[in-house]
Amino acid sequence: MKQRKILVTSALPYANGAIHLGHLVEYIQTDIWVRFQKMRGHECWYVCADDTHGTPIMLRAEREGILPEALIARVHGEHSRDFAGFHIVFDNYHTTHSAETRFHSEDIYGKLKAAGLIEVRAIEQYYDPLKQMFLPDRFIKGECPKCGAQDQYGDSCEACGAAYAPTELKNPYSAVSGAKPELKSSDHYFFKLSDPRCQQFLREWTRRGSLQTEAANKLHEWLGDEGENRLTDWDISRDAPYFGFEIPDAPGKYFYVWLDAPVGYMGSFKNLCARQNIDFDAFWSKASEAELYHFIGKDILYFHALFWPAMLEYAGYRTPTGVFAHGFLTVDGAKMSKSRGTFITAESYLAQGLNPEWLRYYYAAKLGGTMEDIDLSLDDFAARVNSDLVGKYINIASRAAGFIAKRFDGKLVSEHLAEKFDAALPGLREAAEEIAEYYEVRDFARAMRRLMALADLVNQYVDRNQPWVLAKQEGQEARLHEVCSILVNAFRILTIYVKPVLPKLVQCAEEFLNIAPLAWADTTHLLPPAHLINPYEHLMTRVEGKQIEALLAANRESLEPAVQAAVPPTPAVAPHSPQRHAEHQQNAEDKMQNQITIDDFARIDLRIARIAAAAHVEGADKLIRLTLDLGPLGTRQVFAGIKSAYDPATLVGRLTVMVANLAPRKMKFGLSAGMVLAASDPEGTTAGLYLLSPDSGALPGMQVK
Ligand code: MSP
Ligand code: ZN
Repeated sequence: MKQRKILVTSALPYANGAIHLGHLVEYIQTDIWVRFQKMRGHECWYVCADDTHGTPIMLRAEREGILPEALIARVHGEHSRDFAGFHIVFDNYHTTHSAETRFHSEDIYGKLKAAGLIEVRAIEQYYDPLKQMFLPDRFIKGECPKCGAQDQYGDSCEACGAAYAPTELKNPYSAVSGAKPELKSSDHYFFKLSDPRCQQFLREWTRRGSLQTEAANKLHEWLGDEGENRLTDWDISRDAPYFGFEIPDAPGKYFYVWLDAPVGYMGSFKNLCARQNIDFDAFWSKASEAELYHFIGKDILYFHALFWPAMLEYAGYRTPTGVFAHGFLTVDGAKMSKSRGTFITAESYLAQGLNPEWLRYYYAAKLGGTMEDIDLSLDDFAARVNSDLVGKYINIASRAAGFIAKRFDGKLVSEHLAEKFDAALPGLREAAEEIAEYYEVRDFARAMRRLMALADLVNQYVDRNQPWVLAKQEGQEARLHEVCSILVNAFRILTIYVKPVLPKLVQCAEEFLNIAPLAWADTTHLLPPAHLINPYEHLMTRVEGKQIEALLAANRESLEPAVQAAVPPTPAVAPHSPQRHAEHQQNAEDKMQNQITIDDFARIDLRIARIAAAAHVEGADKLIRLTLDLGPLGTRQVFAGIKSAYDPATLVGRLTVMVANLAPRKMKFGLSAGMVLAASDPEGTTAGLYLLSPDSGALPGMQVK
């Protein structure tokens, strides 16, 4: 077999969120495929990185009161830890905020420009006058133009599913500051995908094959028929403030995050090349004979099958050999949900003590190499792992090992077994190439089905020969030795087939078998005569129902988070009505029992705020409109129900404490982005309302802990 050179990537996860079980579908799938290629003896490199740029990351860092660089460094650590926890091993896990990615982004941009494929055009967009920034669609909210639902995003309505432009929203407001956005014009840089050259090239590239049928169909839909010109130009620039790479010849303009994100694949590999002495050009130059594969989710096919190949082509690089898209994860048939506890993070899965290889096996058993969604059915998960892995595969080792240890000093028979083995278990070794082909085409589900069918065969052999009966019979010593030696060898062959999926378990199995790490080609021979194995230690435990329950409970986010229970239903301070008195009393007691951890408390971002302005609100008899100055964090508008106790004029200039990360709430009078804290007596008398103040010396924006 010719040794192939293969470069493999998974999509780069955003650096502003935790890795969850949905992500893991992709990284586990890729890791299995890469491990398989390495076992086959190919030169295969697996690179990935954090996707670190863009507005959400910039704003998240700002909210946390840290620099984006600090945020992405922290998340890089968390992501690396989570991946390692699931035995996902990258040859390099880099960051897009790197010298290598900057270099190649600038290089590709320069070449596209030289090819006449970059154009500058002024466009009008919503601008937040308070925050002084252009607003991405997701940061504009308002009423749906179709159904009138409140608080919908600027691109689509979650109530009726309508898609629209942010300018169509009624009563739009900035989700960042609450301000009314204004239309403002600025120059943007476009990659001219509408250029006939690009469309022609992409049609031809699509035809080259190695796209899944569903993906090829999608592309055809996007490209249209020969002669049609359906693609529109792609806006690749964003205005400051933005966290990303500034465009070399355009001060104040930054590359849009999706421009440099795929370049991050190159950047990560370049970084690896420098450390491992790999020839970068052998993988990326137009003349490269290496294979390049991108594993992605179906939601980002557009970027990988249109923009990215076109960027590479016109910047003079090779294009991908294949783009492998997978579907989305559902849990028990539904989208992952925080209230049901099915939005499960990688971290919590491990923290609950669940075995990562259970999930690796389950995903493998579900992944067919298509774009279909895959469902994690929790009952099925436990049943499958227990019956397949523990009941069928592991069982083979445990049934034979005891006798070998106790009766034969840990040694296998001292003759060559190959002929007897193949006669006893026909097809077990011959299946190697067939199973390899299933791995190769990413039909892991089929590989696992074949593997388990073989395990069934081996278990039937056990039942036919009944070693536990032989062990009790006079004169059956040799027969028992042979049967158990065949079983240990059968276990070894199955272990080769399952190794890409269960790397950790297989490492333990290799120790038990007392052998060097297994490669695919090792199916061609058996263990040598009189081979000494080590005492068997249990390789995997069963999934317990209560572990799954604990996992769901740990991820279930109560619909009323703890902080909301302690505060009134209105966004500011509660107006205390007498009829709620009893309820409040009860809550007061509950609250004492309802203890929280320090982590729960840490989720509340309390900040010192200076009241920059305060005014009565027309038509509201309890509210005062406050403009709160948070120093480096900017200003916020908050409506507080404190009119009964305070005259606005006396409030201006004083310091108080606010909850800064309370989800903004749209009120009749405008957006309320946070909440000020006040003490009140539980009787709810009008006089009992006291705003908190810090000791002197505290400054706006300081954190309260
Ligand atoms: N940063 C971009 C990718 C840039 S690649 C140059 C991105 N990041 S992501 O964090 O949102 O997603 C990373 C990968 O995980 C994507 O391929 C995405 O499709 C996949 N998944 C995220 N949630 C998923 C599920 N619920 N189910 C399956 N895959 C999912 O997109
Ligand atoms: Zn709607």
